[in-house]
Amino acid sequence: MPKRLTRILAIETSCDETSVAILDCSKDDVIVIKNLVSSQIPIHQKYGGVVPEVAARSHVPEIVALLSEVPHDFDAIAVTRGPGLATALGVGVEAARTLAYVSGKPLIGVNHLEGHMASAWLNPENRKNWKFPLLALIVSGGHTELVLIKDFCKYKIVGQTRDDAAGEAFDKSAKLMGLPYPGGPHIAKLAEGGDVVAFAFPRPMLKDDSLDFSFSGLKTAVRQEWEKLKANNLQLKAHFAASLQQAIVDVLVEKTIRAAKKFKVKGVLVVGGVSANTELRRQLGERIEQDLPGVVFLPSDRSYVTDNAAMIGAAGYWRFRKKDFSNWKKLEVDPELNV
Ligand code: KG4
Ligand code: ZN
Repeated sequence: MPKRLTRILAIETSCDETSVAILDCSKDDVIVIKNLVSSQIPIHQKYGGVVPEVAARSHVPEIVALLSEVPHDFDAIAVTRGPGLATALGVGVEAARTLAYVSGKPLIGVNHLEGHMASAWLNPENRKNWKFPLLALIVSGGHTELVLIKDFCKYKIVGQTRDDAAGEAFDKSAKLMGLPYPGGPHIAKLAEGGDVVAFAFPRPMLKDDSLDFSFSGLKTAVRQEWEKLKANNLQLKAHFAASLQQAIVDVLVEKTIRAAKKFKVKGVLVVGGVSANTELRRQLGERIEQDLPGVVFLPSDRSYVTDNAAMIGAAGYWRFRKKDFSNWKKLEVDPELNV
């Protein structure tokens, strides 16, 4: 008899991407049938960052357009309910509630951070090695967190940023350097031709025993150095970008390795927009191989690192298996939601 698959319709509108996905899931398998992502980056670029009201208004026509492009024979609806921008989240949640009412199918409110963690599970090799406990380094524009995953849907935050997120450190430095929003990929590109030791940027909280992060001191050091330099020469800019990127990568890698040792995990995930960074992936992978024998490295595929509905559908399926459903009459957004 063929294995019974559960079809999940997933919606993500927490920030500046509108996304709708359809996934067919079973206990050990998941097939992404569609993952439509409409990015608002070109809209927000002229403001140098995301404008919440503009984001929310832009989601409205997009969500309708994307929903009309996917099949409507699903078993459940998963939607991001937080954390994120309140008005942006509201667009996805209201669309999902309406669909749940009309279809009579169960509704699942998903935590965006759980979605980022589930993005690593979309990779078949990672699924084979999915043995608890796991550690996730979540690095995005709004979050820098180390999460201990004890089981499906069972988490403990063991480290987090006390101020800026890693993505913000990239984005704010890039803005200073006159690079477009979002700055992370531009810094990474520039850094390819640069020397990582050209500038001695601080590695905040590396000597501290806690597993927390802080990037605001680095931001200040970057600003002071840039003001002295005002680099208009491309090679200097490349050195600046490479040194700055290495400072961020050093802190992220070191704290992740420490946490993985402390909690004796079997695998380490790296997820979220900043995990698109080639140097972060490479250096974290190398350190795991060197320092943590037997521990597997489980990065999410580059196609799922930035915000997308497929990852929300995967997390939604974990919740579906636990019958963790929300009442369509009551589901509300929670902009401050944590894992
Ligand atoms: O996960 P994401 O799409 O959105 C949030 O939930 O925040 O992450 C976006 C962040 C931005 O800060 C962007 O600059 C950063 O991911 N990013 C990168 C790279 N690609 C995206 N940062 C460093 N290197 C990259 N290659
Ligand atoms: Zn995100």
